[in-house]
Amino acid sequence: MLITRAEKELLLHQRSRVIWFTGLPGAGKTTLGLALEKRLYQQGFLTQVLDGDIIRKGINSNLGFTIQDRTENIRRIAEVSKLLVRNGVITINSFISPTEAMRRMARQIIGSADFIEIYVSTPVEICEQRDPKGLYKNAHAGLIKNFTGVDAPFEPPQQAALTIDTSRFAIAQSIEKIMTLILPEITYQT
Ligand code: ADX
Repeated sequence: MLITRAEKELLLHQRSRVIWFTGLPGAGKTTLGLALEKRLYQQGFLTQVLDGDIIRKGINSNLGFTIQDRTENIRRIAEVSKLLVRNGVITINSFISPTEAMRRMARQIIGSADFIEIYVSTPVEICEQRDPKGLYKNAHAGLIKNFTGVDAPFEPPQQAALTIDTSRFAIAQSIEKIMTLILPEITYQT
């Protein structure tokens, strides 16, 4: 007999969801994702972080940054997330996912009820100042093509459950906002 999602959620004493961070490079998606994982762990929740830089070194190492490759990147991530969420695990995703079409696809694959979209809306000027990996600098110098925020587009989401500009809030404050949003959804109820 198949073990159901409800049985997995009972085992883990949590309800699973996909928390999907979208935003420009350098907006703070990875930072928030990791801080959220730590906070959830401390409160007894089991999570899995999926992050562009890690996934693109592993299962998606054959993909680049054309719209087609990014779409395939997001499609695979969404399929993996669907498996995790059916396994009862809260999945924390940090991907630029730059277009509405990509995010709509992810929402469709995962299922709207399990998909919580958070827009990390830090302005591009701030992301450029931070430039944690020096990629904006390289993109402006023409060393990287199709760089989101420089010569590739980012469409702000219309359906985000929460929008956070990390230049206006401390990480802890952002995490509080996220917890207020997600706790009612992930708390186990009999
Ligand atoms: S997505 O557009 O397909 O969602 P994803 O989040 O997986 O992108 O990967 C983004 C990461 O790839 C960035 O954090 C950055 O380190 C790296 N990167 C390398 N080249 C690019 C590029 N042209 N545009 C955006 N990010 C890039």
